[in-house]
Amino acid sequence: MKKIILASAALALLASCGQPKSDMDKYIDGLMGKMTLEQKIGQLNLHSAGGFISALEVKEDDANVKLLRAGQLGGIYGSGNVEYLRQLQAIALESGAGIPLICGLDVIHGHETVMPVPLALSTSWDMDLIEKATRVAAREASASGVNWVFSPMVDICRDARWGRIVEGAGEDPYLGGEIAKAYVYGYQGHDDAFDKDEVLTCVKHYALYGAAEAGRDYNTVNLGRQEILNGYMRPYQQAAYAGAGSYMSSFNEFEGVPATMNSYLMDELLRQAWGFDGFIVSDATAVVEEVAHGIGDLQEVSARSLKAGLDMDMNSDGFIGTLQKSLDEGKVSVKDIDRACRRILEAKYKLGLFEDPYRYLDPQRAAAEVYTEANKAVAREVARDCQVLLKNNGILPLSKNARIAVVGPLADDASAMAGTWSMSRHAGESVTILQGIRDAAPKVTYAKGSNLFLDKAMEETVLYGLMRSFRPDMPIPPVHTTANAALIAQAVSLARQSDVVVACVGETQNMNGEGASRSDISIPDAQAELLRALKATGKPVVVVLTTGRPLTLTWEDANMDAILCTWSQGTEAGHAIADVLFGDANPSGKLTTTFPMSVGQLPLYYNHKNTGRPHPDYAPYRKFTSCYMDVVNGPLYPFGYGLSYTDFEYSDVELSAASMPINGKVTASVTVRNTGQRDGKETVQLYIHDIYSTSTRPVKELRGFKKIELKAGESRKVDFELSAEDLKYYDHELQYVCEPGDFEIMIGPNSRDTKAAVLTVTE
Ligand code: BGC
Repeated sequence: MKKIILASAALALLASCGQPKSDMDKYIDGLMGKMTLEQKIGQLNLHSAGGFISALEVKEDDANVKLLRAGQLGGIYGSGNVEYLRQLQAIALESGAGIPLICGLDVIHGHETVMPVPLALSTSWDMDLIEKATRVAAREASASGVNWVFSPMVDICRDARWGRIVEGAGEDPYLGGEIAKAYVYGYQGHDDAFDKDEVLTCVKHYALYGAAEAGRDYNTVNLGRQEILNGYMRPYQQAAYAGAGSYMSSFNEFEGVPATMNSYLMDELLRQAWGFDGFIVSDATAVVEEVAHGIGDLQEVSARSLKAGLDMDMNSDGFIGTLQKSLDEGKVSVKDIDRACRRILEAKYKLGLFEDPYRYLDPQRAAAEVYTEANKAVAREVARDCQVLLKNNGILPLSKNARIAVVGPLADDASAMAGTWSMSRHAGESVTILQGIRDAAPKVTYAKGSNLFLDKAMEETVLYGLMRSFRPDMPIPPVHTTANAALIAQAVSLARQSDVVVACVGETQNMNGEGASRSDISIPDAQAELLRALKATGKPVVVVLTTGRPLTLTWEDANMDAILCTWSQGTEAGHAIADVLFGDANPSGKLTTTFPMSVGQLPLYYNHKNTGRPHPDYAPYRKFTSCYMDVVNGPLYPFGYGLSYTDFEYSDVELSAASMPINGKVTASVTVRNTGQRDGKETVQLYIHDIYSTSTRPVKELRGFKKIELKAGESRKVDFELSAEDLKYYDHELQYVCEPGDFEIMIGPNSRDTKAAVLTVTE
């Protein structure tokens, strides 16, 4: 790695020598020449508007307004209200150095038109679709006064206990890298210029936030450099290569240093090795949290964060509060402050804010371009392709003429459809599963069927805990007003009068996302009781699973007739789910996270390594091999898995040559045939395995995929061109190398059911 870093740093230096200054550099030189030090530090400060989308009023005694007037605020986040932001912008322009604000927002999966949650989106394996969904989000956000979105979240996660697994693209670094690029292109476009409907991305959380020990949010990360370079960093890197404009540092530590002050992560890797030239903002209050990490007081941690490469402080007031003092004491230099200030001004310049500070603040666009029927149609189209059929004994697709009992606490829950981080949603307006089914079929009955949990306190926490964390004195509406047994009895009675039951269970909105780790990832007890009672009726039961994480579904897999994992699908959820249930759309989603059999298997991921005493995934317990006494090693549903209403048959893998010189190329192919009665989409996946290498390697690593569409009966040859680039990894000396020798090239419909050929790479 060192060599690569030095080489790219030297190249950058050479490139900058003797080059005429760009217009941007000249402009910012001029601006900074006129700014006071206090104003420069002010640019490094980001505050929350405090209202999240709700119509805020600009009041002179508001803390943010006072800071703005004093030239102490570079950006604001948390509002998508054009009128409010226009007023703040006006104050920014008449105060301090008159520099426009950058306006950020957590636009995570859509804006007012809510798209499927990111984990769902990733199961489409469709980069064009992801870019399309993101484009809609960019258009809506930019029409709402927002020019900077806190997305994409690209943290790799191998542990479903972590609630924020829902915000990312799963466990695989290669797929994660492709998806990261699709997001950046969707938000920022494919060129350097920002059109007024394109917004600056903020790639987060840099870095390794998803590797929190035991899946507990904000927890320590304990990984080595080789492991992070091979298993975790690629999505962050690919986002930088795609031109991402900013990064957000993460809450966790790495190598004993909080990420927010980690110069290896921010400087050596991101800037020097990958050439990122935008700015880095801390996560909310992450600077002041370094005090609790045990590093020092606010002055100390602020100085160290700036020096390590952090440019903007979100909500800690560490920079505006202490940098002047640190400068006086020689802990930071003017150069450190100038560097950070310049990066933020550059972003504002690139966004066109100096040319027109109101560029993103057009009330007409806000009225015309947000939450439109056209955008909702995209949300429905996208959502259809983000559902994973986990089991089907033939009951699906349903007939629209069937008598259908729709039951379960998530059947009529609009907020569960919108999912986590959807603060700009139109509350209560997401189409529920019940509504979607009713819109499609005439004979539908409904019963809630169960509470979420048997425990009342848990029910309250899940329903109202988030709001109560902001307002501890908030009165809580009564929960468990009907006993679980009575709710179940109603559902069972409907089931008995129906041809089929659609049971809508899983996780509601606040059971995943930030600060929502779970140690038990099964279907909550009250809902599991409902499923057992439904099973006892003998009627066919289709589980529609709303969730933001993999769950343990061993009982459901053995006892239910079908399981459709729909995650949280957004504004058009119910319609898109009905499209799939009734076969108007053929499901094509494939898992991007492993579904374990038991929580005790976690962390569980397909690209694990062998041990010296390997044990086959589904073989029974054997003493002195690497396995458990009480559960097999293998997952319930592997990475890449997902069924369709049709069947696909794969030929053997063919290589255009059995050996490849290290600077050569080879093509690996399979022929895929749709052997069923319906047209369908299939994601063909290519994995590699380096049989002998100088460092240990995973048993399988994804290195290519293609999503194809085949008519019933149609077959197609699918080719993957491979070169040494696809076979490289970071060895134990952190060199990125392809080592000659034999590689297994595996192709299949998921990470488990692959066919292989051996490719020999020669010097
Ligand atoms: C989250 C970030 C988010 C930020 C601003 C933090 O708590 O970790 O993902 O962007 O808040 O809302």
